[in-house]
Amino acid sequence: MNMDFNDVRLRYESLSDEIDDAIRGVLSGGRYILGPVVEAFEDEFARYCGTEKGIGVGSGTDALKIGLRAIGVRPGDEVLVPALTAPATAIAVAAIGARPVFVDVSLTDFNILPDECLERKTSRTKAIIPVHLFGMPAHLKKIAKAGLPILEDAAQAQGSDANWGRCGSFGLAAAFSFYPTKNLATYGDGGMLVTSDAMIAETSKLLRNYGQRENYSSKILGENSRLDELHAAILRVNFRQLDEWNRRRRAIAEKYREAFHELPLGLQAQTGKSNDHLFVVTTPHRDQLRSYLEECNVPTLIHYPVPLHRQKAFAEFGPARCPNAELLCSRVLSLPMHAFLLDADVGRVIESVHEFFKRKM
Ligand SMILES: Cc1ncc(COP(=O)(O)O)c(C=O)c1O
Repeated sequence: MNMDFNDVRLRYESLSDEIDDAIRGVLSGGRYILGPVVEAFEDEFARYCGTEKGIGVGSGTDALKIGLRAIGVRPGDEVLVPALTAPATAIAVAAIGARPVFVDVSLTDFNILPDECLERKTSRTKAIIPVHLFGMPAHLKKIAKAGLPILEDAAQAQGSDANWGRCGSFGLAAAFSFYPTKNLATYGDGGMLVTSDAMIAETSKLLRNYGQRENYSSKILGENSRLDELHAAILRVNFRQLDEWNRRRRAIAEKYREAFHELPLGLQAQTGKSNDHLFVVTTPHRDQLRSYLEECNVPTLIHYPVPLHRQKAFAEFGPARCPNAELLCSRVLSLPMHAFLLDADVGRVIESVHEFFKRKM
């Protein structure tokens, strides 16, 4: 049987009865937006992250946008973002009229470089968005020395732990995505902002719902971005499995790390306990390795092929010097990683990678 790159379909199959029941429960309950299921999931997930409040929103991108606005970032302000991440990190900044300033990343752990954050800070810089890339915690304690509000982009880091605590608990607020491929996901779009700051929680609640506390009376110019009851019901079922799924991912990552340590492959340095959202290797022979793995029916992806400062959409924010991000984009390759990979699949990935280097040497 062909191996899947991720377990979106397999996860559903493993819980289909419970998920179908949860969906039916919402449909017959008559409450579809901002109801008890969203509230329960907000409380559960905020607690899991080590924070006081969760605000369910429409997507991870919206969690970033709403988080930035709640922190007080205004049009024209600058926000530091890593050059190696999903475009959504910087899109969120631009979407509220602020300017993303691209900062280079580490060649070892692939996360934003704290020293460069200090160098890029100006009087216009109003926030930093460190990303826990591929689930690996960013160096938030060092980044905090810049003295700027931190909005964690924890879209890929549900359940990752660092020496400063759980991802999502350190910054003024943190944005999560529940996009179908994430470690904790729904079958559609969804996201959450978590925070222990009462003001940010209150403002974010207004922002996601037309700026309203009571119906038909807007206090601020909000938007419509609400996690709905159906997705929250699905997420509550999946959430019960998150720790177990993360344990399986970590066991697979451990096997990959052991099997690859003598090969000429770069591996993401471990800054904490990743949830192993993605398992990424680096090699100057990336494209050849990828073609060889394709011949072996081992699916791979590239996260990410182009650094943000080289993408057309961000040209208006001017040039940036991010040589590490550029080098990584030419070398990164994501191997199959999910909670439903069989030991035989893991063995086949390892064998195929070894075979490639045996032929190459
Ligand atoms: C690092 C990162 N930030 C933000 C997002 C945006 O999340 P969403 O797709 O839910 O808007 C994603 C998801 O693709 C992501 O990987």
